[in-house]
Amino acid sequence: MRYSYEAISVFPEVFDAYFGSSILGKAQDRGIFSFTAHNLRDWTHDRHKTVDDAPFGGGAGMLMKPAPIFEAFDAISAASNEKPYVVFFTPTGTPFTQQVAERLSKKPRIVFMCGRYEGIDQRAYSLADEELSLGDYVLTGGELACMVVVDAIVRLLPGALGDEMSAQDESFSAGLLEYEQYTRPSSYRGMNVPEVLLSGNHGKIASWRRANALERTVLRRPDLLEQATLSKEEELFVQQLLNTRIKENDES
Ligand code: ADE
Repeated sequence: MRYSYEAISVFPEVFDAYFGSSILGKAQDRGIFSFTAHNLRDWTHDRHKTVDDAPFGGGAGMLMKPAPIFEAFDAISAASNEKPYVVFFTPTGTPFTQQVAERLSKKPRIVFMCGRYEGIDQRAYSLADEELSLGDYVLTGGELACMVVVDAIVRLLPGALGDEMSAQDESFSAGLLEYEQYTRPSSYRGMNVPEVLLSGNHGKIASWRRANALERTVLRRPDLLEQATLSKEEELFVQQLLNTRIKENDES
């Protein structure tokens, strides 16, 4: 199956370099997905191709007008039999996570609306199946958010990475942060690779990696542990780590 992603933007050219390069470029060449950026100004009718206007009620900045957005969606939706899933980008949306990426990676066709200026006329959001935020900060537009989201989705598509395993094993996919990794040389500037990784004992290596992932998650992102699936033994291990942490905090 070829997955189809489209963006509506007033700066459609900003996507070219990123989607043309490296893994994403290759995945497109291999027909795994397509990405098309549409210029919102193509659906304006005035000489200046106006897409924004002042907000009713006053206030600073300009808003994106509803009409070009609605017309763009009518035209883009009608161009294929596959009804698109529609995503709008806004800091007021639901936070984008790996789980959202996994869910979106099942959709055959997605159209992303990238806002600019101070926001979008509220009526345009009636077109959205979902509103996504990249995080609690304000970007100048949705284009960067769109690139991030498409990147995170595409690497989950079957065959996109070439190596099916690598998308599986990483941070967040198991609800934990990824374990530490090392390559040659085994000793560098006095820093040594953990002995067990050089042992060739795959069982021991797997246990070390799991324990290391748990430790890192406890130290860096304990909030993730609530969602993670842990064995009884692992829960005990985590509890011990958390207790040590609490004790260390009390002592300092
Ligand atoms: N547009 C502006 N800021 C954004 C954010 N944080 N997430 C998604 N879209 C945005």
